[in-house]
Amino acid sequence: MTLAEHKKALACAVKAARLVGRLMRQNLHIDKKVNSATAHDIKLELDVRSQKLIEKTLLQSFPKVAVLGEEGVSGDQSADSRWVVDPIDGTVNFSYEIPHACVSIALQTKDKTSGEYVTVVGVVYDPFCDELWTAIRGQPSKLNGKVIHVSDRKALKDCIVSIGFAKSRSNLERTLPYFNVLVRRVRKIRLMGAAALAMTYVASGRFDAYFEQGIKLWDIAAGGLILECAGGEFWNEPVDSQHTYRLVANNGYLRKKLQSLK
Ligand code: IPD
Ligand code: CA
Ligand code: CA
Ligand code: CA
Repeated sequence: MTLAEHKKALACAVKAARLVGRLMRQNLHIDKKVNSATAHDIKLELDVRSQKLIEKTLLQSFPKVAVLGEEGVSGDQSADSRWVVDPIDGTVNFSYEIPHACVSIALQTKDKTSGEYVTVVGVVYDPFCDELWTAIRGQPSKLNGKVIHVSDRKALKDCIVSIGFAKSRSNLERTLPYFNVLVRRVRKIRLMGAAALAMTYVASGRFDAYFEQGIKLWDIAAGGLILECAGGEFWNEPVDSQHTYRLVANNGYLRKKLQSLK
């Protein structure tokens, strides 16, 4: 894909993100229909409606590109390019009327040599703060049109580290002892409940690192590119074939320090 095509994809993803953002703003203080709920998670009817709206918008301009989303898939899942979509990231916040949630849309294309998907365009939109993060691979990341950069804090004692507590019991039990060590070493820990926003906060130098066990691709694809193009390190490793990863997103100085605390 050429730069012009990446720019067209970015504009289309921004349009879709803003449409869903408006829907989120309109529905924040309204009773929301719950499709299902477990001990640590909620799925709303609006999650599905938002994904459909994003798919419709993306497919109008890119009819051949597949979609891999939290709320479903469409098109050929081994196609050369695919959108990776989290229509509402932070659904639990959103359903409790906490205005900290976002839309996350990434475009991935297959690398010709390795055959691996590479993220080439990323958009994360927080409709409650009207903050729009964008990235095109090879160019600097932007927040509302202004170039952003990660922090340069190196000492853990100066850092704000954000954690995502996974939904599964086993991941939760694994994170708790680590939390107990980490909380004594950093300035502050933040648990904000929207992984894609945590990543853009690292990209913007607000947080210094974010980590989570068992995070999904749609949570981190767009934020990962935004972080990399802002000078940060998007360290991740797959834990299964269901798009699940271990993640340590950071400003480029902290991964080894964070991992050595385990
Ligand atoms: C969740 C949020 C949460 C993170 C979970 C995600 P959802 O996404 O990003 O902060 O800890 O792992 O699944 O379900 O609200 O889109
Ligand atoms: Ca969800
Ligand atoms: Ca999510
Ligand atoms: Ca979601």
